[in-house]
Amino acid sequence: MLPQTLTAGPRTRILIAAEQIQQRVRELASQIDADYTQDPLYVVSVLKGAFIFVADLCRALKRPNVRIEFMAISSYGSEKTTSGQVKLTRDLDVNIEGQNVLIVEDIVDSGITLNYLTRLLRQRHPRSLEIVTLLDKPERRIQPVSVKYIGFQIPDEFVVGYGLDYAEDYRNLSDICVLSEAGIR
Ligand code: IMP
Ligand code: MG
Repeated sequence: MLPQTLTAGPRTRILIAAEQIQQRVRELASQIDADYTQDPLYVVSVLKGAFIFVADLCRALKRPNVRIEFMAISSYGSEKTTSGQVKLTRDLDVNIEGQNVLIVEDIVDSGITLNYLTRLLRQRHPRSLEIVTLLDKPERRIQPVSVKYIGFQIPDEFVVGYGLDYAEDYRNLSDICVLSEAGIR
C-alpha cells in the first residue's frame, strides 16, 4: 500500500494527475531504452525541479548502467519567470567526453536554461546529447531548444507539484497543479 500523498488543495487545481504522470513516465522510459544501446547512459538532472521526475524515470529504465548526475543552475528574476541571466551553481563532477548524455528537466519555459546548458555541455564533447523534459510550454519560448522527449505540452499557466515549486513550496504534491491567484503571494 502506498502512503497517502499530498495532492491539490484550495489554492491548486489538478492539471495532470499522478497516475497520468506515471503512465507517461513509463512511456518515455521505454522510448529511451529503445533508442540507446547498452553503453552507459549519463542522466544529467537539473536541480531542484527535476528531482522527482528523474527518480521515477530512472527506475522505469530497464538497464543497470544509468549514471545519475546533478547540476544546479540559478536564474535571476522574479519567482515565476527567468530573467535571462543564468548562472551555474553546481557543475558535474564527471567527465562526459565520449559518453551518451541525457539531460532531464522538469519544464521548458523560455528555453533560456536549456539553451545555456546544452551549449555548455556540448563543449565537453559527449558522444550524444539529448533532452527529456516532463513539461513543455511552447508558447513561452524565447530561445530555441531541441527537445527529443517531451512528457506533456501544457498551456501558458504556472504549474507546481511533482518537483516544481512556487517560492520553494508545493514540490511534494503528487499531481501537477495550476496555482490559483490566491496561491500566489
Ligand atoms: P526557462 O529557462 O525559462 O526555460 O525555465 C526553466 C525553469 O524555470 C524550470 O526548470 C523551472 O525551474 C522554472 N519554471 C518555468 N515555468 C515554471 C512553472 O510553471 N512552474 C514552476 N517552475 C517553472
Ligand atoms: Mg524553479
